[in-house]
Amino acid sequence: MSEKPLVAITRRLMPACEKRLAARYAVRIGDDDVVYTPEKLIQHAQGAAALMVTPTEAMTAAVIAALPASVKVISTVSVGFEHIDLGAARTKGLRVTNTPDVLTEATADTALLLILGATRRASEGERIMRARTWKGLRPTFFLGQQITGRRLGIVGMGRIGAALAKRAQVCGMKVFYNNRKPTQDVEGAVFVERLDDLLAISDVLSLHCPLTAETKGMLNAERIAKLPDGAVVINTARGGLVDDDALIAALRAGKVYAAGLDVYNNEPKADERYAALENVFLLPHIGSATIETRTAMAMLAADSVDAVLEGREPPHAVA
Ligand code: DGY
Repeated sequence: MSEKPLVAITRRLMPACEKRLAARYAVRIGDDDVVYTPEKLIQHAQGAAALMVTPTEAMTAAVIAALPASVKVISTVSVGFEHIDLGAARTKGLRVTNTPDVLTEATADTALLLILGATRRASEGERIMRARTWKGLRPTFFLGQQITGRRLGIVGMGRIGAALAKRAQVCGMKVFYNNRKPTQDVEGAVFVERLDDLLAISDVLSLHCPLTAETKGMLNAERIAKLPDGAVVINTARGGLVDDDALIAALRAGKVYAAGLDVYNNEPKADERYAALENVFLLPHIGSATIETRTAMAMLAADSVDAVLEGREPPHAVA
């Protein structure tokens, strides 16, 4: 009987997926479920045919170069793949796969949650209730911004941006977007060719572009200054898109009314200044964190492992 190929997984996955993988492969799971150092990553991959990772694992050129020759594929359980050096993977002849599509709806739900949470001061209200300091209903108490009729500017009209656009339209928002090219995906959404022009009309600005060398720190002081006074900033994409100093200064000054953030620079150590601000609605990177979606993501990542190890083209290859 031939030995089963080894699949090394850095994080615990949804039970149904772990069970599926264990039925077919020898499986090495990172039971401690923590961020691995480069050394530990390389050690974890020894003897593996496939490596399943998540965005918390920095698959740098050095780590990839040091992976054992047995590894054929790096399958990330995420749509984002900025944590993987694709050039290094290609040089080593490795396939790299990701999990788009299946997380679109959950992530768009989270973006809408952030819009509502930020505009209606949801976490501030929750804090009042938990502190038991509520004095009761008053007509002028605790007023937020209404989103009906407001302009939503979407940066990056991919699948998640489009799914958010549809939700926002149902809430009565007017949708504008900036993208490499216009898309037909959302009826009534207006393409704005220049990012600066989009910023100028975004009462709510929501980021949905990938983190690349070009987009890193794109929401900086200069761009924030172009937003209407009292705009709201939403980020479910990647923390690296935002210059924290600039956003925090704008939140303190009231230039930005509120922010809704699910992703941060230097996760999990989000800039502590956010926690001291009342006008931010903060979530711990849970955009796709539903049972259904995390199961679908893990299953899709496993499909890619199966495909590569069987010599087939994987469903979603990025390298
Ligand atoms: C992704 O898929 O890239 C998310 O950020 C993690 O679920």
